[in-house]
Amino acid sequence: MEDLLARARQCLQHAAHIAVLSGAGISAESGVPTFRDAQTGLWARFRPEELATEDAFRRHPERVWDWYAERRASLAAVQPNAGHLALAEFERRHPGRLTVITQNVDGLHQRAGSQGVLALHGSLAEDRWLDPCALHRQGACDVARAEPGRPPRCPQCGNPVRPAVIWFGEMLPEDALRQAEQAASRCDVMLVVGTAGAVYPAAGLAHQARAVGAQVIIVNPHPSELDELAHLRLAGSAAQVLPRLLDF
Ligand code: APR
Repeated sequence: MEDLLARARQCLQHAAHIAVLSGAGISAESGVPTFRDAQTGLWARFRPEELATEDAFRRHPERVWDWYAERRASLAAVQPNAGHLALAEFERRHPGRLTVITQNVDGLHQRAGSQGVLALHGSLAEDRWLDPCALHRQGACDVARAEPGRPPRCPQCGNPVRPAVIWFGEMLPEDALRQAEQAASRCDVMLVVGTAGAVYPAAGLAHQARAVGAQVIIVNPHPSELDELAHLRLAGSAAQVLPRLLDF
């Protein structure tokens, strides 16, 4: 690992632009369960695909609302870990040189101090209305003033509130995705941290970086679906590897 770490650090030292693609694994050492490893609570009974969809929310609003409420509650108790902090501190030392693109909705990169994080799957901390509605377009209703409930609803028209995360099958935020594709297309190194690489279009950014000639470095204790793209694979955890990889 030492030799691989030295080679990866050398790659990064020569990189003018570094794009980071992170997934749930970078938050694992903060105590946030990853999608593939989670076995507790609602995770054990339902697959994310059965909870993180609009259809699941319309069929079982209380179950889906409760799952997100459970995840939000657990987030209140966790902190960014050494992996998040290493990225944020690197950005401070090398302004404009590193772009964080994340699939995570936990806000831990932002809390660690990373700027301009491209959150492709939205944010667990925010809500929005489930359906577009004339009242809301006129600004007559505010999510913050929704009637409490599981889920909360608009007192005027009954529209339910939903988490402002991107559910399976939904379009990613256009601006974030466009900026992420720009970062992937101009980077000299793409650092892929803590993702199984199973969900697109996020995982496609690693293919895009490889296609423009960027060095692809993977940090993950286990194999991932992006491994065949990697020039270097560091088989370690984010909190262990990133501080040693980015300490320049
Ligand atoms: N450090 C680095 N990687 C880790 C660590 C760690 N400490 N612990 C686990 N991993 C790796 C696992 O080996 C796995 O490859 O993190 C990855 C987590 O994979 P997933 O749980 O599938 O999470 P992710 O790839 O981010 O999922 C992508 O799928 O469920 C949807 O929208 C959801 O954003 C999510 C997307």
